[in-house]
Amino acid sequence: MSRILTGIQSSGKPHLGNILGAILPAIELSKTEESLFFIADLHALTTIKDPKKLQENTLATAATWLACGLDTQSNLLYRQSDVPQVTELMWYLNCITPFPMLANAHSFKDKSDKLSDVNTGLFTYPVLMAADIILYDANIVPVGKDQLQHLEITRDIAKSFNHIYGETFVIPESKIKKDCMIIPGTDGQKMSKSYNNCIHILEDERILKKQIMKIQTDSKGLDERKEPENCNIFKIYKLIGDQKQCSILEQKYQNGGFGYGHAKSELLDLILTKYKLPRLKFQELMNNPKFIEKELEKGAKKANQIANSVLQKVKKNIGLM
Ligand code: ADP
Ligand code: TRP
Repeated sequence: MSRILTGIQSSGKPHLGNILGAILPAIELSKTEESLFFIADLHALTTIKDPKKLQENTLATAATWLACGLDTQSNLLYRQSDVPQVTELMWYLNCITPFPMLANAHSFKDKSDKLSDVNTGLFTYPVLMAADIILYDANIVPVGKDQLQHLEITRDIAKSFNHIYGETFVIPESKIKKDCMIIPGTDGQKMSKSYNNCIHILEDERILKKQIMKIQTDSKGLDERKEPENCNIFKIYKLIGDQKQCSILEQKYQNGGFGYGHAKSELLDLILTKYKLPRLKFQELMNNPKFIEKELEKGAKKANQIANSVLQKVKKNIGLM
């Protein structure tokens, strides 16, 4: 059996892109493979400086995994910072990671061009990510395309450690989602916490409605025929609805007499119906943060056990024990 591991930063609340692109496929995998999922709150510190927000995001991220059906009896859900051994391992890895490897990482170059706060955490981000993975002997890491280079860096660091100090780490493989779907946001770009274009399908109906109403469209009038394939509302609808629902909506677009406001209402109804149970569960969990904390503590306890045994081997091999 392989050990699957993946993390999601708590830099915001999970949105439709995170849920369809990462959380649901990972939960599917967890039904047959031992899985470790964590909330990367240490990574989120590279961008989030508001303690209250960080905590809220962490709770909402945990609640999303649970509301989407993760079984925490047979899998682990934990908070990255609850296993501080990861930062210790990161230091050991820092000492064998060539500076140019990090300086050439796309994601660092991207972020350092876009963000005003270019801190050292952004630079060493991939080393912490490598530690996240190899501290748990993970074999398979499901990630989006944007994270592939980070996985390559992880593999390079782990191989180089094994070469210097002898066989210590499992070399992980990345697993790219098969259809590689990129969920578009309300502005048609990739939906992302950083672009203010998210649809939070588990949020309060009022907030969800507001986000759906923000979806950008062309300015065709009510009576005009419309092209579903070029419409952001339809593109999102298609990712959620079944074939029959989609062809009915497609027909309405093509017939005319159907405005974008109508299409947005149909999308809202579809989300409310399709995600009725996870929405209820999410609200219930968010009203019971103590329960979420208990779940995270349970995950951290098991994660700590794995981390301690791997770290002990590391310390022996590098000459600290
Ligand atoms: P964000 O861009 O919102 O900050 P993250 O980088 O935290 O998202 O991504 C967490 C996970 O969700 C990753 O596996 C990523 O590939 C996936 N993901 C994020 N946005 C999308 C999207 N728009 N479509 C598909 N998958 C996405
Ligand atoms: N960097 C990942 C992202 O932004 C989050 C992450 C942190 C991660 N550590 C990880 C993903 C380890 C997989 C494995 O999406």
